[in-house]
Amino acid sequence: NTLTFGLIPADGIGREVIPAARQVLEALPSQYQVKFNFVHCDAGFEHFQKTGTALPQETIETLRNDCDGALFGAVSSPSHKVAGYSSPIVALRKHLDLYANVRPVVAQQSKTASGQPVDMLIIRENTECLYIKKETQTKAEDGSAVAIAERRITEHASRRAGEMAFQMALNRHSVREKRSPGQRMWKGLPKVTIVHKSNVLSITDGLWRETIRHVYDTNATYRKNVLLEEQLVDSMVYRMFREPEVFDVVVAPNLYGDILSDGAAALVGSLGLVPSANVGDTFVMGEPVHGSAPDIMGQQKANPVAAIRSAALLLENIGFPAPALAIYTAVDDVLAEGLVTPDLGGKATTQEVTDAICKQLS
Ligand code: NAI
Ligand code: MG
Repeated sequence: NTLTFGLIPADGIGREVIPAARQVLEALPSQYQVKFNFVHCDAGFEHFQKTGTALPQETIETLRNDCDGALFGAVSSPSHKVAGYSSPIVALRKHLDLYANVRPVVAQQSKTASGQPVDMLIIRENTECLYIKKETQTKAEDGSAVAIAERRITEHASRRAGEMAFQMALNRHSVREKRSPGQRMWKGLPKVTIVHKSNVLSITDGLWRETIRHVYDTNATYRKNVLLEEQLVDSMVYRMFREPEVFDVVVAPNLYGDILSDGAAALVGSLGLVPSANVGDTFVMGEPVHGSAPDIMGQQKANPVAAIRSAALLLENIGFPAPALAIYTAVDDVLAEGLVTPDLGGKATTQEVTDAICKQLS
């Protein structure tokens, strides 16, 4: 099998961690019978500053037509409005219909008072909610500014996010059981938690909640094998930090899911550890949860683990669980040895951690 992956390092430490992930993929021993072609693709804020476009049409075409999957680094998005610029990652998710962002948050010992393990999978709806970016500014009667954002929730997007949550709840424990037999941390029946705030936003979040409930109620397999519960987003945050061990698969609308999953990264100790995958029906793009980290770029301080795990998550989601498992295990072994970057209190460089993971693999 030869897989063609598009690599989109984009900005900042994306240019350091994507080459690291590539090096690890190339180090996979031949027994996994998978080889790689890599195609470099441009995107990002720096590319915008150079050329006036953040996401060249060529990148979209290459990914769509020539690639079996992709790895995205990170973009530096300015927090003020820059004329003509919009985030390429948001656009890519839309162009490739990557409708769910899947984020496993796993640690033997979470950074909570109790130190309980955390083993959850956050599924974030990726196409709508406030991120449709329909914002307007008007003026109030007294002349002061008023800003308004539109929030879109559809039955279609809610249904497919829900389907993915139930499917992944059914599947993921069998993969994890293989990964470390007897060690899987969530011991209960697969469980899905719907996150919403429909006590306040009864129309939008109400549609989200009812649609996912309907998916469950009308599917006998889900009803038999999966538990369904729900949690208001504010108390979800509270419980996630108090007792993360009670959660398994969590499914949330775009904005809540974004915030929850970055917050959940604190439970495992560093943003530099947490991978994600943007998943659609025909394409998958791995992407570390962290941003471009301008404060540490160019200093060999970036933790490559999130990007390397994102490469494994990509493989897992396009039907190659065995090499994915090998990468997860090599990463866990190197972390357990204590060879870690400064974000985890260590002294190792990006390159040293990457080399150690490659060595562990072979
Ligand atoms: P950030 O994730 O880039 O950094 C937050 C903190 O975590 C920083 O102190 C950084 O040094 C540290 N950190 C992040 N990744 C790390 C890694 N792999 N190893 C070690 N330390 C790591 O978030 P921030 O600072 O809010 O945003 C910086 C830029 O990144 C902004 O322009 C923002 O728009 C962009 N961003 C892009 C994202 C994406 O491409 N998906 C997601 C989040 C932010
Ligand atoms: Mg985020």
